[in-house]
Amino acid sequence: MKNILVTGGAGFIGSNFINYILSKHDDYNIVNLDKLTYAGNLENLIPSQDEKNYEFILGDITNTELVKYLFEKYELQYVINFAAESHVDRSIISSKEFVTTNVLGTNILLDVARKFNVKKFLQISTDEVYGSLGRDGLFTEETPLAPNSPYSSSKASADMLAIANFKTYGLPVIITRCSNNYGPYQFPEKLIPLIIINSLNDKKLPVYGDGKNIRDWIYVLDHCRAIEMVFESGTNGETYNVGASTEIENIEIVKLILKYLQKPESLIEYVKDRLGHDRRYAIDSSKIQSELGWSPNFSFEDAIIKTIDWYISNKDWWNRIINGEYMEYYKKQYKI
Ligand code: NAD
Ligand code: DAU
Repeated sequence: MKNILVTGGAGFIGSNFINYILSKHDDYNIVNLDKLTYAGNLENLIPSQDEKNYEFILGDITNTELVKYLFEKYELQYVINFAAESHVDRSIISSKEFVTTNVLGTNILLDVARKFNVKKFLQISTDEVYGSLGRDGLFTEETPLAPNSPYSSSKASADMLAIANFKTYGLPVIITRCSNNYGPYQFPEKLIPLIIINSLNDKKLPVYGDGKNIRDWIYVLDHCRAIEMVFESGTNGETYNVGASTEIENIEIVKLILKYLQKPESLIEYVKDRLGHDRRYAIDSSKIQSELGWSPNFSFEDAIIKTIDWYISNKDWWNRIINGEYMEYYKKQYKI
């Protein structure tokens, strides 16, 4: 059995990962440590919550004593660190929580992981640490870190601490840097779920600046499979970029969603640009493809429709979020 601490497993990618991994591996024991910030949602984990090799712990990765206690109690051997403040716009309003969780929290996990001689520490990072691209070029693993937002700066700091732990102490650290994910259970502050939900509700669709910023989109399950492969066969001390080579302008995505939902383009509202808005991200994922044999299974054309359909079929899920009712679910589950 592999005893794995997954942090931030109630968020968008972490919950997709846990649901995916438990459906495939009987030999993984997952301990999910999540603080349940606004972005954490236990409903995302309904498919896993009754599995015998799954345990949820309500807590903070910055709580050193709790993290140590979990290592002892569950004899943890592996860490996959998803826990983070993840939204760029929030980091522009206030960076404090980003530094606390993303930098300090990761450092605490690394310290405790070292003390308990973990066999692998997987740091889930982002392509945003590389900064912004012009019209040409791709981010490779050798691209220098040049983050622009408080969010990406905090993630770059965490990456550097992780690498320092490998170089200084030999901690078996691996970093993944993925591009923009989309799919089920994404909190509706991010572009794709926000546009789907606002369109369904006939509300205005805020498009920042000229709408021509480019992101490189990947379906969340392709990211989860990449994490699985890096976890199983990645080389310690290495970084792996993950992306599906799907560069799209924001405005194109908005129009595609409107078209599928048969809603008018008059809902589009160009608004003031995000401060320091990165123009273009594009990932070169040839390393994970050639070294680990990963490649994306989902095309954007199919997976975006699958995603829109998921939000149409799960109105209760996002209505509870919008109305703040999802806290009731926690209170009932955890008597808090
Ligand atoms: P998310 O915001 O949906 O989820 C984050 C989760 O972390 C939540 O469940 C939250 O409750 C938990 N959390 C926050 N602070 C915590 C703390 N102090 N202690 C314990 N738990 C805490 O984020 P996401 O989109 O699922 O992203 C997960 C990870 O993947 C992040 O590290 C992010 O930087 C990275 N990433 C995201 C994307 C993307 O497109 N969403 C792309 C590449 C990398
Ligand atoms: O690239 C990976 C990153 O992708 C992750 O590390 C982050 O955690 C994740 O939030 C995401 O960051 P972005 O800033 O790229 O994602 P977001 O969905 O916030 O925005 C995508 C693009 O859409 C970006 O160019 C800003 C724009 N946008 C966003 C929102 C929320 C709008 O035009 N209008 C909006 O209302």
